[in-house]
Amino acid sequence: NDVQTIRPQKLNEYIGQENIKKRLGLAIKASKMRSEALDHVLLVGPPGLGKTTLAHIISNELETNIHVTSGPILEKQGDVAAILTNLEYSDVLFIDEIHRMNKSVEEILYTAMEDFQIDILIGKGPSARSIRIDLQPFTLVGATTRSGLLSAPLRNRFGLIMELDFYSIEELSKIIERAASVLNVEIKKDAAILLARRSRGTPRIALRLLRRVRDMSTIRGKVTIDMHMVGEIMELLGIDEEGLDELDRRILKTIIEVYNGGPVGVKSLAASVGISEDSISEVYEPYLLQSGFIARTHRGRIATQKAYKHLGINVKRGLFDE
Ligand code: ADE
Repeated sequence: NDVQTIRPQKLNEYIGQENIKKRLGLAIKASKMRSEALDHVLLVGPPGLGKTTLAHIISNELETNIHVTSGPILEKQGDVAAILTNLEYSDVLFIDEIHRMNKSVEEILYTAMEDFQIDILIGKGPSARSIRIDLQPFTLVGATTRSGLLSAPLRNRFGLIMELDFYSIEELSKIIERAASVLNVEIKKDAAILLARRSRGTPRIALRLLRRVRDMSTIRGKVTIDMHMVGEIMELLGIDEEGLDELDRRILKTIIEVYNGGPVGVKSLAASVGISEDSISEVYEPYLLQSGFIARTHRGRIATQKAYKHLGINVKRGLFDE
């Protein structure tokens, strides 16, 4: 099948994350030469940076099957045992949101990862006994938003830990141009760069915005996407020059107006803004931190000068400022 799909299928189609591609390419090649299962891989990073895409690429490169599941779905030991005993030699088991597994499921994984064996308890009461099941060697690919969310014993069982970075404007515009060609729509270079600038360093956002702009080009009769069209859509979606949306701005505004610029803890901030703590710390905060709108201190988050300036609010001078 040589039809290009919107998700890259091979490492050499994947744009950006150069260090990760090199390390993965090396490990995959070596494991194939030795005819062994690839070491377990932990992919770490904010949502939308391509962790799931990489998991699929790993299995494509290994030429094995991939079994996809997620932490919250695996409720009981039996759920994970059923999946593990179904794996064939060198298969990839992808567990998304691996930090959201319960303890008993996690414990089964320890011996599965280390020795390709599991011990499961069958029966109840005095006749209960534990039986050992051998598994085929497999590769666990886990995805999580922050490695600190994993317990040390689980984290330590991954031979390859890869932290994904936000993408540069250049990388994002390449991703946009590649996707535009797959979607069969033309986009001008400067329009792709403008779209990239507003995508918060995140391919998933870039591709979503591209689809919205493509809708407009469709309606207008298949014209080439230009900067003007991108600008119109951004305006419509409430996305500003920095790529921040309504909620990003509400978070900044809350820190500044309700908490006098901070510091404020995630809990209070989440309550004031009206979204969950998890989505603040795992979805919104990473980009706001990385792009310098907020900073973390030991007492909580503070809004930076850049945030005040961006929202057009005068910086309130502190007691000790000039
Ligand atoms: N689509 C989404 N993420 C991508 C990436 N990193 N490279 C190429 N296409 C992508």
